Amino acid sequence: MLRRLLFNLWYFRNPPWDSGVSPPELLEFINNHPPGKAIDLGCGTGTNLITLARAGWQVTGVDFALPAIRMAKKKLKEAGIQAELHVGNVTKIDHISGPFDLALDIGCFHSLDQEGKQDYLTQLDRFLAPNGSWLMYGFYAQGTPRSGHGLAEADIDLISARFALRSRQNGFDKRERPSAWFLFQKS
Ligand SMILES: C[S@@+](CC[C@H](N)C(=O)[O-])C[C@H]1O[C@@H](n2cnc3c(N)ncnc32)[C@H](O)[C@@H]1O
Repeated sequence: MLRRLLFNLWYFRNPPWDSGVSPPELLEFINNHPPGKAIDLGCGTGTNLITLARAGWQVTGVDFALPAIRMAKKKLKEAGIQAELHVGNVTKIDHISGPFDLALDIGCFHSLDQEGKQDYLTQLDRFLAPNGSWLMYGFYAQGTPRSGHGLAEADIDLISARFALRSRQNGFDKRERPSAWFLFQKS
């Protein structure tokens, strides 16, 4: 609840992640996969929905921050793009059925607590199409792991028990925190 409030507040102050530019890792994915149905989990103001839609993808976005979804609606309308947008918690989206060929997550999964991560993976397994991809970016927890403060190696094991790891690119975010891009696939 507190986390949701904090994210809502961020959107009144130009959040640092909201650059308006899609990352090269997403562009590379788009270049190497035919368009289909995509869902952006924690879609923020919709920058990556626009990029995907312009490449021919049918897009759905979910975010629990109402101001982000309001901005996404405006940006998509101005770009002339049709999309399904939902205000909701990514761990509780039973009403979204899929199947999706791509689930994108840039900076959302890593912020969930352990129960949230489990619920998220259950949802993902339900709505991802066979052979569907999950492209996920997150940063790692630093120091003593605290629930909801980044990825831990145990999370990668948890995910790998359900989805096949296709690629992993380690790096650092703007604040020099260790981070990584992951591509998982549902078998
Ligand atoms: C770091 S931002 C990234 C936004 C967007 N993916 C981007 O790249 O611009 C993380 C987003 O996830 C959303 N978020 C975090 N936890 C969420 C949850 N449990 N359910 C839905 N959205 C969530 C936040 O509101 C925020 O918009």
